[in-house]
Amino acid sequence: MTDPASSIAPPVPPVAPGGTRECWVNGAFLRERDAHINIFDRGLLFADGVYEVAAVFNGRLLDADLHLVRLERSLGALHIGGTQSAEEWGAVMQSLAERNAIEEGLVYLQVTRGVAERDFPFPSATTPPTQFAYARPKPMRYDPNAAGIALQSVPDIRWARRDIKSIALLAQVLAKQEARAAGAYEALMHEDGEVTEGGSSTIWIVKNGTIRTRPLSHKILAGITRDVILTLAETLRIPVSERAFTLVDALTADECFMTSATSFVLPVTRIDERTIGDGTPGPCTTALRNAYLERAERLTAGR
Ligand code: PDD
Repeated sequence: MTDPASSIAPPVPPVAPGGTRECWVNGAFLRERDAHINIFDRGLLFADGVYEVAAVFNGRLLDADLHLVRLERSLGALHIGGTQSAEEWGAVMQSLAERNAIEEGLVYLQVTRGVAERDFPFPSATTPPTQFAYARPKPMRYDPNAAGIALQSVPDIRWARRDIKSIALLAQVLAKQEARAAGAYEALMHEDGEVTEGGSSTIWIVKNGTIRTRPLSHKILAGITRDVILTLAETLRIPVSERAFTLVDALTADECFMTSATSFVLPVTRIDERTIGDGTPGPCTTALRNAYLERAERLTAGR
């Protein structure tokens, strides 16, 4: 039996087992090969933790402050305490970009409730959280996907608190694998007839010049890029509607695009078997991608 996914090149390089990349684990910068997590870590046993992903552009962190505010919110929702401060995180993240000579890419960070004998309720309050981070390169300015990507619709089978950036991502793993197997770049998750979000992105549609995305609630993650796009749309005088939309609305939209910290703004030119608009990136999407790139340049220039 041939694996349909195997014909599509994986978008990320494999992790090198003897890797010399520098990571950060619980206060120390370590080579990837020396960076280890205890098997009793609650992140591993229960997915009891949260994460953040921020972009690196021109060698500088982009909107790390906003990501760290969301991290605080996620940690607060799960009552995980004892973590390093936002200032300390900022320094670690920037240092990882520099130590690994990342010009364009991302920093990933994760916090779990720490290491304890396996037992569902929280361990003692003195159990320190596990904190780690790494960086990796990724093309953003000249992302080949900016020519247009395909989405594959899949039912959203996640839990009820999607506003928490939880490391429990099995539903997204399955959704994005289904998308890749279908030859699509991203999953388009839907529930009760309405689009929720992408597998790891916010989804937007454009109809008659108005851009539309789902309002914030427990049903979706409050995307940092989403927030920035709302401001940029206002500056560009593009009308915005924060209203849920159906899969049919998406299929019949003039334009569709996805946003995330690491892909910025990517045009969607196909959903399932259907071409969106004329099959090329539309004017609103292009204007917003350009505005996002200009803002990123402005915020990270002048090193
Ligand atoms: N994912 N919705 C979901 C479910 C996500 O996982 C993400 C981000 C977003 C967009 O959020 P932001 O604009 O803050 O990146 C929306 C990250 C990039 C990831 O899991 O890799």
